[in-house]
Amino acid sequence: MRLKEIKQIFHKELEAVYDAMEIDSFFYRLIEQYYDFTRLTLALQPEMSLSKEEEQPLFEALAELKEQKPLQYILKTAYFCGLTFEVTPDTLIPRPETEELVQWIGETVDKNVPLRILDIGTGSGCIAISLAKSLANAEVTAIDISSKALEVAKRNAENNNASVIFIQTDILETTQLSQTYDVIVSNPPYVRMLEKASMKSNVLAYEPHTALFVEDKNPLIFYEAITELAKRYLEEGGWLFFEINQYLGVEMKELLAKHQFKNSSLQKDMYGNDRMIKAQK
Ligand SMILES: C[S@@+](CC[C@H](N)C(=O)[O-])C[C@H]1O[C@@H](n2cnc3c(N)ncnc32)[C@H](O)[C@@H]1O
Repeated sequence: MRLKEIKQIFHKELEAVYDAMEIDSFFYRLIEQYYDFTRLTLALQPEMSLSKEEEQPLFEALAELKEQKPLQYILKTAYFCGLTFEVTPDTLIPRPETEELVQWIGETVDKNVPLRILDIGTGSGCIAISLAKSLANAEVTAIDISSKALEVAKRNAENNNASVIFIQTDILETTQLSQTYDVIVSNPPYVRMLEKASMKSNVLAYEPHTALFVEDKNPLIFYEAITELAKRYLEEGGWLFFEINQYLGVEMKELLAKHQFKNSSLQKDMYGNDRMIKAQK
């Protein structure tokens, strides 16, 4: 079938769920990944066609898109800080807001001195690996509770040529770390159960719930535990960085003040929501 006809089928089948621009972008990402064709290839060769066998992966992807499976899980690929990451149902899809957190760390620390960095709840490894790549003098360690996520993160480090030490542990049960750090960063689970109703159905259906949710009655459980550890394992003057629930910025400032962290500052994401906080020991 001609590629342009397949594109029309995509629009017809998906128009009830996605807008036309999104459908175009899905289609072009798929033909790029599967056949190395770009938008330009199709514009220059409008009659280009695929054999039955060749077109099969496109129709399989179409069926998954109809079920609202995120394109990143279909392609098993996500882009973050200019790097390519494998993602599986065991890892959260890295978000653009988290790229802003990584950028903020790069702007805050002194890139010329050796830094020991700990990323807690690493998932695909996106934060740890991006920091290891962008901070030449950093020694990066990353923790997650999920051994399956860590397998993916290890492959991502290898594929991106990054050196990261990975450790499987439950941070809520951890009372000791083996060394001190200059930076501790975490994007822990922070979505309250009460916020479930306002979430997109494709996030709820496909993304790992251990990566997302916390109990309504204790939404800062991870931040409390990590701040307690940071009090003991962050160097004097070291920085603690968190991605946060946009509705809990004030509570996060209070938590950090309660634990005697200094110079805390909230930062908004590109959508204007309080999305990250940093503070110094
Ligand atoms: C919001 S995701 C962040 C993933 C990745 N850092 C990112 O920014 O895309 C939270 C991560 O914390 C991990 N996690 C959940 N509970 C944990 C625990 N008790 N100890 C350590 N990691 C945990 C999850 O497996 C998940 O990978």
